[in-house]
Amino acid sequence: MKEQNQQPSKAGALAILETGPRPLRGEITVPGDKSISHRAVMFGALAKGDTRVTNFLQGADCLSTISCFEKLGIRIENNPGEVIIHGKGLHGLSAPTEILYTGNSGTTTRLISGILAGQPFSTTLTGDASICKRPMKRIIDPLSMMGADIKSEKDNGCTPLRINPALLNGIAYNSPVASAQVKSAVLLAGLYAKGKTSVTEPVLSRDHTERMLRMFGANVTSEGVTATIQPDPELSCADIFVPGDISSAAYFIAAASIVPGSEVLIKNVGINETRAGILKVAGAMGADIRLLNERGGVGEPVADLLVTYAPLRGTIVSGSLIPTLIDEIPIIAVMAAAAEGRTIIKDAAELKVKESDRIFTVTENLKKMGADVTPTEDGMIIEGGRPLMGAAIDSYLDHRIAMSFQVASLIARGETTIKDADCVNISYPTFYSDLAALIQ
Ligand code: S3P
Repeated sequence: MKEQNQQPSKAGALAILETGPRPLRGEITVPGDKSISHRAVMFGALAKGDTRVTNFLQGADCLSTISCFEKLGIRIENNPGEVIIHGKGLHGLSAPTEILYTGNSGTTTRLISGILAGQPFSTTLTGDASICKRPMKRIIDPLSMMGADIKSEKDNGCTPLRINPALLNGIAYNSPVASAQVKSAVLLAGLYAKGKTSVTEPVLSRDHTERMLRMFGANVTSEGVTATIQPDPELSCADIFVPGDISSAAYFIAAASIVPGSEVLIKNVGINETRAGILKVAGAMGADIRLLNERGGVGEPVADLLVTYAPLRGTIVSGSLIPTLIDEIPIIAVMAAAAEGRTIIKDAAELKVKESDRIFTVTENLKKMGADVTPTEDGMIIEGGRPLMGAAIDSYLDHRIAMSFQVASLIARGETTIKDADCVNISYPTFYSDLAALIQ
């Protein structure tokens, strides 16, 4: 087998040596956090003055957010190393002259809907084929309870959405799902409502919205699983340093943990407790992860992660942990396939409504590689330890599936190809070259 075939490539083809996988060694800095990058643009647009964002994620999803706010009359400079949002205040957006296109981004679609519900102009928004299948009723319902005039144009609970001007009232919303996107949409509409708005979740979801809105001067309080916002503050611009995305770091945590002889230092990773469930699960599986240089960060805690290969064992992933690692379940499933023993992932029915149905797309692809995996209604059961074989992986245009299976291919015997491998551009455009640079 030729040397160059052993490197992950943009085309997603990878094969390993007959002598076994090659270790990963060295340092990596993963791109900025996707959730935080979206919010920095949105809240910067609603604040008065210039918000400067460093380490902004230049992935397609966050660029969709920039383009939507440009269409709403906000000037945004996307300079190398720094994004500057020239915010016009809470009531400074103007009517777009065209449909807002949110691409593949659920965060853009749902959060912007909460903002648009409070505007004195009408908007239509839509996204790509995947977005047009994802559930929007979960935001249409609470926003309508607030008085919003928001409709699914095809009456199927999905985009395109038409949002007309309406007066909003604060509500106390009991969300049936633990979803930061739902919580954030309602809280953002709450900025424009009469009276206070609160959202109570079954389990706490990521709290980036609450943290960052506070940095911008909004009156947001959090108590357990309830977040509350008071309307109509003057939001003030802020400087935001976006920490590295733990969801992107997860691929290197997994790769270093499953390839013998590996040791990788992942620098500057956001370790917000509502996001860092992967660290707990990987720890429970026996992974060797050391948190170094822990620091406050601006509004978000950050650390460097030193990950050293260690044999993994199966675990149970369930309950209140699920929202803290929901995007990491595909890569956790890959770790589980490499681990000894059984892993049960449950309480994760939300996987079905992500960029792909991830119960299906993870289990189908793992089966192709020879893993023993059974899909369930709300997760999957993986009997780990079977040797993985190279396979023709279908990413189903889901960035997290492509990256997870590129990592799986590191320990698979024979060649793996990944269909539509370029979909990693959604959250991590340089993923393949960053991974290749670590392989010895
Ligand atoms: C996100 C929240 C999560 C996550 C998504 C980003 C966010 O979705 O899956 O990738 O930025 O708020 P849900 O809140 O719908 O679970």
